[in-house]
Amino acid sequence: VNTRLLEALAETAQQNRARFHFPSHAGQPPFEAASVLQTHLYDYDQTELPHLDILGDPSGVLAASQKEVAVLYGARESFYLINGASTGIMAALLALATIYPEASVLMARNAHRSAVDGLVLSGLHPCWVQPEYLESWGVWGEITLTALKNAYEQAPEAKAVLITHPTYEGISSDMAAIAEWCQQNGLCLIVDEAHGALWPLSEGLPDSALSTGADCVVHSLHKSGGCLTQGALLHLSKTSLLSARSIQAALNILQTTSPSYVLLGSLEATCSFWASSEGQDYLHHHILAISEFRQWATSVLKTIRIYPHHPGQFQLVFQHPKLSPEAFADALETKYGVAFEALSGNVILCSGNIGLKEADWRRLKDALSALDETMEAAPCFVNAVGVPHIIMACSPREAYLRAACDVPIEEAIGKISQELIATCPPGIAILMPGERIQSEHLVFIKDRQTLSVLL
Ligand SMILES: Cc1ncc(COP(=O)(O)O)c(C=O)c1O
Repeated sequence: VNTRLLEALAETAQQNRARFHFPSHAGQPPFEAASVLQTHLYDYDQTELPHLDILGDPSGVLAASQKEVAVLYGARESFYLINGASTGIMAALLALATIYPEASVLMARNAHRSAVDGLVLSGLHPCWVQPEYLESWGVWGEITLTALKNAYEQAPEAKAVLITHPTYEGISSDMAAIAEWCQQNGLCLIVDEAHGALWPLSEGLPDSALSTGADCVVHSLHKSGGCLTQGALLHLSKTSLLSARSIQAALNILQTTSPSYVLLGSLEATCSFWASSEGQDYLHHHILAISEFRQWATSVLKTIRIYPHHPGQFQLVFQHPKLSPEAFADALETKYGVAFEALSGNVILCSGNIGLKEADWRRLKDALSALDETMEAAPCFVNAVGVPHIIMACSPREAYLRAACDVPIEEAIGKISQELIATCPPGIAILMPGERIQSEHLVFIKDRQTLSVLL
């Protein structure tokens, strides 16, 4: 086996780029414990020795560590996740199914694919709620309470709500109002707060759903907290309808029996840093740096638009009205060495990572200033508006388990999809198991000759 991957990694790491893409440590985590882990990578790669505890049934150091994280986050219980927020979202749905087997869940259309995978595993049924669509930016917007209420009228048997807040591009919903309404109606609220992992830890950041009444909140600590990739957290709020026992049981189905202690160490080190006064100072300065950058961008840039996020949001969303997103992205990356997170809708998404240094911010400013003056005319990219409204013909689980065959893509229209198709990032399903395939879907599925459909 050639060491192609290692070579590619070495080449990427050596490139002189400002890393505005995940993971948020950007190769330079701000805490000492990270370099200890780095130095002892192989030494610390241990197994479940008696004094190192067992992640699937913790009673020693891991139990104590998770308890402290729960206190830090203001949760009743917190769980370390070693396969990303994805596992937490699936575990929450599996746990929900133990209270409400085969129940319906009001689920935002822009849910991450792991939520759909969670439906396949749990046998729960989705009732889709349409978020707003921000046409000029080409991205999903907030979930309004009105949209939720309308969906509930169509599915009064629903027992839970699952919402992505904030979205991949950093757009929030009014979670306090949603949580209050869920409580009034006895609905369990699960929030995919993957992109708000530090929110509960600073007053300078938006309110976390954990403090506004959600039952279960999932955080992707590698996306915004500085943890190694795959490190994430699941929290149950103090009044959660879900039990710790059911979450642990679900995690034991989903997670490996050989958890990486380096990753667990990174989760603990990350939480420990943000809990410290040094970490709090760092976070405070980071929030200021992002807010200064936003002020600079809105006052200095004449052509490039920056999305007006709520204060404390780490995502930076840019649009260049004179350049296609591809040309804009290409120039940022190849000409100015700014590595961005994604091209999404009609915008470029940069992640204001906590590992970024002043030189990285300077580089982004220089690149944007230079590109702001670009007058080259290029056909403005128009993103097809959203994906079609979902028509479910059967549950995702039923579709997953039924016999299927591959058909040429143009013959798939009108048939029922067996597969989940999503481009990652952002990992939102374009088509999902059990969904009726419409001609509009094909606009978004460019690289496939065939689709798997139910017989
Ligand atoms: C909104 C959202 N939720 C969940 C996830 C999954 O997170 P992870 O990669 O930590 O599994 C992602 C990943 O991009 C995401 O954007």
